[in-house]
Order: sequence, then C-alpha cells, then structure tokens
Amino acid sequence: MVTGVKMCSPIRTELLLCLFLLFLDALDSKYTPRVILPATGEGYVRYEFPGPQEHILFLHGQEKGTLYVGGQNKLFNINFNSLNQSTVIPFPLEVATGYKGRCDVTVLHRYDDSHLFVCGTDGETPQCYMMTDTWNSSEKVSPAGISPFSATEKAPSLFVEGELYSTSRLYKEGNGKDLRRSWGEKKKVWMHDKSRKDPKYIAITSVSRKDDPLNDKIYTFFQEKNPDTSPDADPWISRVAQVCKVDQGGSRSILHSMWTSFLKARLACGVPSENFFYNRLQEVYVLHAENWTDSRVYGVFSSAWNMTAICIYSIKEIDSVFTHSQFQGYSGVIPNPRPGTCVNNSQTLKDNVLKMAKDHPEMSDWIQPIVKAAPFMISDRHYRKIQVDRVTVPCQKSHNVLLLATDNGLIHKVLEVNHSPFIIAEIHPFKNKSHIQSMILDSTTKKLYVGSNYEVVEIDLQSCEQYGDGCEQCILSRDPYCGWSNNKCAKAECAAVQQVEDGDLSHCTQIPKYKHYLSQRGNPQDRQLKSIAPLSTPYFLSCPMTSHHASHSWHHNNRTIDCQFSKSDCLHLIERMTPDLYGKYQCFAEEKGYQRLVTEYTLVPRSGTTALSSKVQFLGTIILLMGLIL
Ligand SMILES: *[C@@H]1O[C@H](CO)[C@@H](O)[C@H](O)[C@H]1NC(C)=O
Ligand SMILES: *[C@@H]1O[C@H](CO)[C@@H](O)[C@H](O)[C@H]1NC(C)=O
Ligand SMILES: *[C@@H]1O[C@H](CO)[C@@H](O)[C@H](O)[C@H]1NC(C)=O
Ligand SMILES: *[C@@H]1O[C@H](CO)[C@@H](O)[C@H](O)[C@H]1NC(C)=O
Ligand SMILES: *[C@@H]1O[C@H](CO)[C@@H](O)[C@H](O)[C@H]1NC(C)=O
Ligand SMILES: *[C@@H]1O[C@H](CO)[C@@H](O)[C@H](O)[C@H]1NC(C)=O
Ligand SMILES: *[C@@H]1O[C@H](CO)[C@@H](O)[C@H](O)[C@H]1NC(C)=O
Repeated sequence: MVTGVKMCSPIRTELLLCLFLLFLDALDSKYTPRVILPATGEGYVRYEFPGPQEHILFLHGQEKGTLYVGGQNKLFNINFNSLNQSTVIPFPLEVATGYKGRCDVTVLHRYDDSHLFVCGTDGETPQCYMMTDTWNSSEKVSPAGISPFSATEKAPSLFVEGELYSTSRLYKEGNGKDLRRSWGEKKKVWMHDKSRKDPKYIAITSVSRKDDPLNDKIYTFFQEKNPDTSPDADPWISRVAQVCKVDQGGSRSILHSMWTSFLKARLACGVPSENFFYNRLQEVYVLHAENWTDSRVYGVFSSAWNMTAICIYSIKEIDSVFTHSQFQGYSGVIPNPRPGTCVNNSQTLKDNVLKMAKDHPEMSDWIQPIVKAAPFMISDRHYRKIQVDRVTVPCQKSHNVLLLATDNGLIHKVLEVNHSPFIIAEIHPFKNKSHIQSMILDSTTKKLYVGSNYEVVEIDLQSCEQYGDGCEQCILSRDPYCGWSNNKCAKAECAAVQQVEDGDLSHCTQIPKYKHYLSQRGNPQDRQLKSIAPLSTPYFLSCPMTSHHASHSWHHNNRTIDCQFSKSDCLHLIERMTPDLYGKYQCFAEEKGYQRLVTEYTLVPRSGTTALSSKVQFLGTIILLMGLIL
C-alpha cells in the first residue's frame, strides 16, 4: 500500500482539487479492504419497502431465497427468487381492544413447520402471538419476560425443542432482566436475584451434544456492571453464562423454580501483557460445528475509548472453565455434584449444593480467546453486526469468513487465516447512504441479507467475476468462495485453483498465461485512449484502483510518477500541458510481484475535427474530476 499524498501546488483550480485529494486511508494494509465492491456491481437483488421501516428483524423463510421481515405494524415475506411474489400483511393480524396504534416487531421465531412466534411492542404493552406461517390465523401468548417494551431494547430469545428461553424484563419499570425458560412444556425457571448485576443481554445460544444430551446447555452473553468500582476500572464488563437444558430449578426451600446450573465467567478480550481490555460486548455470533467441541464464539467488543476488537473463543474452553475453575469468593470444599453439573432431577439436589449454586455463581478464571495474547482484530470502525460462515469447498481446505457490518452501512468480508484477519472486500450494499438495521446469513445458499430502513438487499457471496478476469487477480483475491477454473474466476469447486492462505501466484503458471488484463471496471475502449490536451491547460489522468493492496503508478517517457489518490483512483494531475508532457502514459498495479497494466492513454495536442475549444475541454476536465472524487 502506498501511503502519503503528494501535495499539489496551490494555484488556480488545483487548490479546489487538493481539498478533495487529501482523502487518505492511513491504516496499514492488514486493515485496508483489498477491493471495494460498489452498489452498482453484480450479485445484488433488492427489495424496497413500500414505506420506511424504523426497526426491522429478520428470520429465514421456509424456502431458499425467502426472508420474513418484521417491521412497523407489518410482516413481510420477501421472495428474492421472484420479488413480485413477496407479500405483506398487517401485524397484529386482528387488532385487539386497547390497541395503541404502533407495533414494532420485537421477536420473530419459527416455532414448528407451520407456525411462527411473533411479538410486537403495541405502544408499550407488548403482545405475542403464535401464528400460522400462511398468516391466516394467530393466537395470543403472554408476552411477560419475552418481548421487550421497545424495539430499541435488546432482549435476545431462543426456541429450543419447543421451549422458549428469553431475557426481557418482566415489568416496564425496574431492571429485572433475567434469563428465563418462559414458554413451552417444561417447567418455567428463572434466575436468582443475586446472580446478576444489571445485565445487558447480547446473545443467547444452545449447544447440543449428540452423544451426551444430558449436558445440552444454553449459553447467554451479556454486559454487566463491573464489581470493581474503582475510578480507573471500566464500569462494564462482559460475561458468558451457562444453564443446563434439563435444569428444573431447586428444591422447595432453596432455588425453587430458579436455575441450579447457572454459572457465569468473565470474557477476556484484550492485551493481557498491557492489562488493556475491551470490556463491552456488542455483538456475538456462534459458529456451530457438527461436534460441539469445535464450535466457536465470535465476540465484537468495544473499549471505553470506542475502539473495536474481535475475539474468538472455543465453546470447549468455556465449558472447561465452568467445569474446572475455582468459584469466586469461595475457598471451601466444592460439594458433589459440583454446582453447574447437569443432573436429571435438579429438584432433588442436596441443600449444600443448591446453597453454593445460589451464593457463588461466578467463576474465578476468565474465559480467554483461542489466541490469548491479543484480539483477532482491532479497528477504529464501529462494527455493528456480525455473521460468520464456514466455507467448505470439496477438495479444498475450509476457511471461516466474517461478515461485519460497519456503522456507516458497509460490509467487510474478512478471511480468518492463521488467527489473523485479511479484509477481502468492502461491500457497499446500498445505493443510498443508509445504516444496516439487520443482517443474516444463509450459509446453505451463501447469500447474505442486509436491511436498511428502506430496503433489503440479497448479496451473493460467490459473486467472483468482480475480482477480474485473470488467474492472478482471482488468486490474489484470497476469497475462499472463489477459484480459478475454466478460464474464469468463479464459485470455487474441487478442480479450481485457490491459494487462500497466501495468495501464492505461482499456481497460475500451469494455466495458459493470459496477456495483461484490463480491470473489469475500466471500459475496454479506454485502453490506448487518445486524449486531447491543449497546450497550457491543466489535465488529469485516472487509473481505477481495483486492489487497494497493490501499489499503483503512472509511467511516461521512462519516468515513474507516484499517484495522487482519490477514493478509488490513482490520479496524475498535470498543472499545465507543455510539449514534453505529450505522449504515452501507462498505469501499472503491482501486488505480490505481479505487475499488471491497468490503463493506458496517449495525450495529443489536438485532433482536427473533434477538437473542442480549450475552454470547454478545461471545464469538462474539472467536472469529470469532481465526479470521480465525489
Ligand atoms: C413476476 O415477474 C416475472 C419476471 O420478473 C414474471 O415472469 C412473472 O410473470 C411475474 N409474476 C407475477 C405473479 O406477476
Ligand atoms: C389457513 O390456511 C391453511 C392452508 O392454506 C388452511 O389449511 C387452514 O384451514 C386455514 N386456517 C384458517 C383458520 O383459515
Ligand atoms: C468430538 O471431538 C472430541 C475431541 O476432538 C472427541 O473426543 C469426541 O469423540 C467427538 N465427539 C463426537 C460425537 O464425534
Ligand atoms: C462511540 O461511537 C458511537 C458511534 O459513533 C457514538 O455514538 C458514541 O457516542 C461514542 N462513544 C464514546 C464514548 O465516544
Ligand atoms: C437421565 O434420565 C434419562 C432418561 O430419563 C436416562 O436415560 C439417563 O440415563 C439419566 N442419566 C443419569 C446420569 O442419571
Ligand atoms: C434513494 O434516494 C433517492 C433520492 O433521494 C430516492 O428517490 C430513493 O427512493 C432512495 N432509495 C432507497 C432505496 O432508499
Ligand atoms: C527510455 O529509455 C531507453 C533505455 O534506457 C531509451 O532507449 C529510450 O530512448 C528512452 N525513451 C525516452 C522516451 O526517453
């Protein structure tokens, strides 16, 4: 990555240009997205809402390429295979007496093959419904502890085997936000008061063990008030907690109808050697694996100084802390069974076990990320949503890809490789500047859905043509969804050439070498373009930067000219045309030793018939240039 902008001299129009040109991304290349994929590119399907939706929630539809979206007083069923078959219904279906007029959807789950479970704020008296997914009937369900009172309040919930686990507060006043088993056949169980300190729930997940169902667990991830109240301590810390699915609560006298298997531990994400931690968990994605011991937790944290870090944990490690750590504030003999152990009938647990579970739910050990020394990724971006995909291609190594939504409506597609990030691309999903309200991945179809207040966009993660049409460009992309096969960059398959780990280009030599390829974004006719630049006028040449990890430069008469950068182009500005400045200009990009001619111009003083007056030409230059920069 070339850094540093050449200053242009403060004369005439250039002063104006300079103001635009001083835009520079100074971060090092590890954190610079390699390519920028604009909203006008390939691989998007758009559904525009009939009117703006302030809050939206996503749920995968029954069929591939379909999505349920909860909005304001509306439920959408969007069909991206055939947009005109999308439907909208009012929500709630039947307006109840005392209805307040505004109903933001707050909970949207699939219950079984034919039913959805949906809640909405209905003013501030939430309502929940079990409704058929053909949307012709609905039945009211008590919303207590399930639906938050406003759509801005986070209260994750989860259906597991017909049981609903939820985290909302019970009453509008007060902060009794608890993890509860709030609906279903099994006994309703909630949390003991002392188990938490003003939690902000971020996520909830279920981890099943095929060979050991007794130990199936529910994990919640949350922020909590820091028990260390010293002035230099962050007032918030982040935690993970466990409960067993089989937990039925304690005996009549201790922990009656309250979790007996609840344990919590601190999630560490930071640089331990410098005692610096990112304490505020913002988002969590759990990447489930066939064998639960391989499942991973991706946490997005922020620091008190608003920096973002991403840490990756192993569920096995979390489980190990809960089964082996000392208990905070307890030095006596640990009773048997150890508190937190899943037992068939928790109501018959002995008093000493229950009492300890009630008084000492906190582990002394912290949960450390897989790589303890430093976060997986640090950024000054504010990542607001995260999804993670395991990309498995036959005959190729599998790789994890993080999809991170920034607070300004962009998506970073990030390869996780050798415990380090590589930002494959920055995707611009919206044509208008918008915030991302909701994001969900369909890992089976490799489609990512992102929604703003105005639209929902389906993004094809396997849209590989965008990297260019040469083997080298395909390999340099390091995108595990893509590979070089049949002379094009396409969805990866068994026989495709892929070098995701290192982008090693030597594998391209086995393939008939193509000449130098122009970038796809450049119009092929631009090549060898003859341009008229009258004497004494200013002029500029622009070269699209298809890779921000490449170094670009212009070449003219054996002279190498460094770039002046705009957002997406390497520019060469000529203050004033003089006779020695005519001739051929070539722009080269070099990345990992691979040099590519991107574009080529020949500047000439005039051409008889098409010559415009120099004034018009000059104006055109400025307008074009401003268009490029803005
Ligand atoms: C939906 O649009 C497609 C073309 O995009 C068209 O072939 C089809 O007939 C339309 N269906 C309906 C129900 O309008
Ligand atoms: C709802 O629709 C389904 C299938 O279209 C039908 O079987 C069912 O009887 C309908 N229920 C009501 C209450 O209309
Ligand atoms: C899961 O993986 C662990 C360790 O890799 C192994 O001991 C265990 O047998 C595996 N379980 C199953 C159900 O495959
Ligand atoms: C952090 O950044 C967000 C988004 O820009 C802003 O709303 C918030 O106030 C900032 N917080 C601090 C402590 O600077
Ligand atoms: C728990 O109960 C199930 C069925 O009720 C039984 O199969 C299992 O062996 C029991 N496990 C223990 C550890 O008692
Ligand atoms: C984008 O902005 C234009 C102009 O302001 C507006 O007409 C259009 O509806 C917007 N589209 C979306 C999807 O927001
Ligand atoms: C460029 O350099 C080569 C060899 O160094 C020389 O032969 C050639 O004349 C030079 N071209 C120009 C336009 O200066």
